[in-house]
Amino acid sequence: MESKAIHCFLILLIISSICDASRLSQLNKTPLKSIESKDGDVIDCVHIYHQPAFDHPLLKDHVIQMRPKHQPEGLLAENRQLNRRKSITQLWQSSGSCPEETIPIRRTKQVDASGASFIPSINLHNKGANTELIGQAPTLQFVAALVGDDQYHGATANINVWEPQVQQSSDFSSSQLSFTAGSDVSNFDSIQAGWHVHPLLYGDSSTRLFIAYFTIHNSQTIGCFNLLCSGFVQTSNEIALGAAISPLSTFHGAQFGVDVLIFKDPSQDVWWLHYEGTPIGYWPSKLFADLANTASVITWGGSVLSSESDGQQTTTQMGSGHFPEEGFGGASYMRDLYLVDESLKLKPLGNPTTSAKQPNCYNITLGRNEGGGDFIFYGGPGRNPNCP
Ligand SMILES: *[C@@H]1O[C@H](CO)[C@@H](O)[C@H](O)[C@H]1NC(C)=O
Repeated sequence: MESKAIHCFLILLIISSICDASRLSQLNKTPLKSIESKDGDVIDCVHIYHQPAFDHPLLKDHVIQMRPKHQPEGLLAENRQLNRRKSITQLWQSSGSCPEETIPIRRTKQVDASGASFIPSINLHNKGANTELIGQAPTLQFVAALVGDDQYHGATANINVWEPQVQQSSDFSSSQLSFTAGSDVSNFDSIQAGWHVHPLLYGDSSTRLFIAYFTIHNSQTIGCFNLLCSGFVQTSNEIALGAAISPLSTFHGAQFGVDVLIFKDPSQDVWWLHYEGTPIGYWPSKLFADLANTASVITWGGSVLSSESDGQQTTTQMGSGHFPEEGFGGASYMRDLYLVDESLKLKPLGNPTTSAKQPNCYNITLGRNEGGGDFIFYGGPGRNPNCP
């Protein structure tokens, strides 16, 4: 990318028209159709071969794989295929749809700030006896259930969807499934998917579907949310990354959750993302060093970034804003937690552990259904008498 830009700049000094080639590639991203959603978002239907992924130097000649060849085996997967309830939709879909061979891309507004590029991630500090979860930012709060003693090909969860209050526009609150691999905090790869409320990124406080990836190596970080940089290859013409999710759960009212599955198909060498039972797209393995093969740590949980300007925790909520002990309807849950190991089958987590950075602010509890699926309740209100 960088070398191309410099090249273009040098030519620009001589004959400006030579740079029309790069302007053309901009033009190519011109949407074939644009849809104005009632929530103010604009969804651009961009030709699938003009999506941001093709700006990645390693993906220039990439041939899109339109469907996963395999799904992880297991009863759960079959059940999900059969009993698919399409209860969760995206609001923009009521205003139109994107044609075949295009993908819906949420148009970035002016308000989207570059300061919104920080992607929270947690990783294991020392593998082994003194394993400890750490986050990259001192003001990052997190809770998670995690597995970290195998080589993982995938994981899934049904993630309860809420609209946590975010105190300051520089705070955010997210709930996600996350995969990492890598030796230490300055050398690792991460992919994640879930929902978040992130005012700096979107200019509002809606609950939105998000994905993210990044790689940190030799003090270089590459990555972003959604399709804001090149890397993720989207195949679906129905789901827009970064679009608002509806309906949302209400306190002791109706509960809604979204199914997220991330699965590395060894025969395709990509990490597929399935959302609500539908393949959305994938991260090609070649984007990564450590995640090129398998993941070493999987976490299910929530994070809150607080600006903490006065030295206090903010009142930014995680999950529903209620502590785990309030249970179903009160606290946010993730259920049907399964992982995929080298057998390529969905399995219960085995021996997961949980971690909460400051349980007086946000906490997590773990349980197991009779059928074998693990679940968590997680979240909290942030600042309170026990969390000053
Ligand atoms: C956090 O949750 C754990 C597990 O349920 C529980 O043992 C602990 O007491 C909780 N901590 C707080 C501060 O509520």
